[in-house]
Amino acid sequence: MDWFAYFAYNRENLMHIDWDSTYCLTPQEVDTILRSLQQFQLGESSEGKHFIARAEQYVKRSGDTAYMPALRLFIQEEQRHARDLGRFMEEQELPLAQKDAVDSAFRFLRGLIDLEVMVFVLVMAEVFAMTYYKALHDATQAPVLQQICRQILRDEVKHLQFQGGMLAKIQRGRSAPGLFITRFLQRFLFTGTLFVVWMNHKQVYQASGFTFGKFWRKNWQHFVHTVEPQVKRIMPFTEQVSGS
Ligand SMILES: [Fe+2]
Ligand SMILES: [Fe+2]
Repeated sequence: MDWFAYFAYNRENLMHIDWDSTYCLTPQEVDTILRSLQQFQLGESSEGKHFIARAEQYVKRSGDTAYMPALRLFIQEEQRHARDLGRFMEEQELPLAQKDAVDSAFRFLRGLIDLEVMVFVLVMAEVFAMTYYKALHDATQAPVLQQICRQILRDEVKHLQFQGGMLAKIQRGRSAPGLFITRFLQRFLFTGTLFVVWMNHKQVYQASGFTFGKFWRKNWQHFVHTVEPQVKRIMPFTEQVSGS
């Protein structure tokens, strides 16, 4: 897959967002989504400086020169998600978050060791995004927010493939015991993160009909499909928005 070509095409072919909509969030909607939305909006806004620095080292080592241009467009796409959510929040007169403990923890983890850890943490964030924006879409009646969620979901399907493929590339050639330990650590970290995300965002998930069991199941499905390469299929966007 030519990821640069994909991201360049996607940038020019965005879904319509009806910014003229006059819908005003109800106090109950604000109560349900505000804190959670603030966290996700902040999480989408990273400039990716550490990531780019590590990726440049990787390209020097591996000669995978196609990676950098695609990565830059990928980061721009995440920043568009932050921009759209931020614009929606400003129009609804909702305050943006400046700092957040969970976001800081994600950023800390991402910058911790090497590109593999960064990509893995990003993959986890993409996995949660798949269920989160589906839940957020269903938790509100605001047309603009629903349209933003649809666009983000469509983008995130590809992000999962892009980053999942990158993770597989980094881990290629690792010995069987090495891979076994990697899988174990990944699953361990993912399990812990599942609880943290549920605790922080359960209001949004529950408002859209997610129980903890469904949250657990759906996220594990995406995780296994993306991170463990024997299973290739990734759920299409339509299944995300209309499926159970
Ligand atoms: Fe995103
Ligand atoms: Fe993403």
